[in-house]
Amino acid sequence: MLRVVIAGCGFMGRMHANVYSLLDRAQLVGFVESSNGGQAFAKDFGVPAFGSLNEALKAVESDVVDICLPTDLHHEFTLAAADAGKHVFCEKPIALRVEDADEMILACQAAKVRLMIGHCIRFWPEYALLKKIKDEGRLGRLKSINLTRYGEFPSWSHENWLGDEKRSGGAALDMHIHDTDFALYLFGQPDEVVSFGTDDGRGIGQIFTTMRFGDQVAHLEGGWNLPKKTAFKMAFRAIFEKGVAMMDGGPMTIIEQGIEPETPKFAHMSVQGDGNISDLGGYFVELDHFVDRVIDNKPFEISTPESSRNSLATVLGEIAQAKSRMS
Ligand SMILES: NC(=O)c1ccc[n+]([C@@H]2O[C@H](COP(=O)([O-])OP(=O)(O)OC[C@H]3O[C@@H](n4cnc5c(N)ncnc54)[C@H](O)[C@@H]3O)[C@@H](O)[C@H]2O)c1
Repeated sequence: MLRVVIAGCGFMGRMHANVYSLLDRAQLVGFVESSNGGQAFAKDFGVPAFGSLNEALKAVESDVVDICLPTDLHHEFTLAAADAGKHVFCEKPIALRVEDADEMILACQAAKVRLMIGHCIRFWPEYALLKKIKDEGRLGRLKSINLTRYGEFPSWSHENWLGDEKRSGGAALDMHIHDTDFALYLFGQPDEVVSFGTDDGRGIGQIFTTMRFGDQVAHLEGGWNLPKKTAFKMAFRAIFEKGVAMMDGGPMTIIEQGIEPETPKFAHMSVQGDGNISDLGGYFVELDHFVDRVIDNKPFEISTPESSRNSLATVLGEIAQAKSRMS
């Protein structure tokens, strides 16, 4: 059984708390939250909330610190957790700077604790199936993919930290990194990356990137520079030699020459909260994997700290290119 302290009682903190409550091999033991919001979490989940990580680690026995804090705090909290001998699950992106990511990886190695970053799209059922189709060669070789992710600017963040480029890295680093990470998961390191973008006053608000991996191509568009009430959308269209696998505003569909299109069924985990059913999507699969791999002392094969660090480095390169082309 892994005893988990969640740091950050906001949007992702609640998602993770809901998942741990459903996992047989994990037990929530406390929260860390600097605002009053911690008390609502303590009441909802029946474990205490503390004002600082130090306090929490002194007051409750734990094995894991799960970091659901604004991105500019990932580095500091990971180092503190590793120093206290705790395994770390940290939300994406790993950090704001590659140097910080490297330091986090080294600190966890030195402390002999595990580190995994929440690149949940690698675990999202539709995307995981797409990776399997590619790896098993069912539709032949993957020739190209479009990956899209957009929506209105997220208004929920504490003190609007998402709107501060110095804390979140803007839409490209906070949101579009999901698709960059998935493109790298499919193809490895790109040979060429070309990016353009537009500024929304909070950094790059919309980014357009084309990556070449040998003769395979990925085109990615992502951003939050859209008006309120624009529904969030994530989509892909993967063109293989013998067919296409796509998800574009509806269920995932696989279309193969001469065969009836197929719509695979997925078992999504849901949770009841405040009268709403909320889909836990890939977050459930991701944290289940993390807990199992830590308890069983097995490597993280799907998402490693190094792959998360490479995704950060790639997105920072995209942002630098997009900015340089704006002037
Ligand atoms: N994987 C995903 O799909 C996904 C989705 C959304 C956000 N995220 C990531 O999750 C992380 C958290 O984002 P969020 O949307 O939950 O933000 P949020 O603003 O909703 O929550 C952050 C919480 O941290 C608390 N906090 C801030 N400073 C603190 C401190 N020093 N000590 C203790 N608590 C502190 C805030 O009060 C707030 O409650 C970010 O890195 C973000 O990029 C990932």
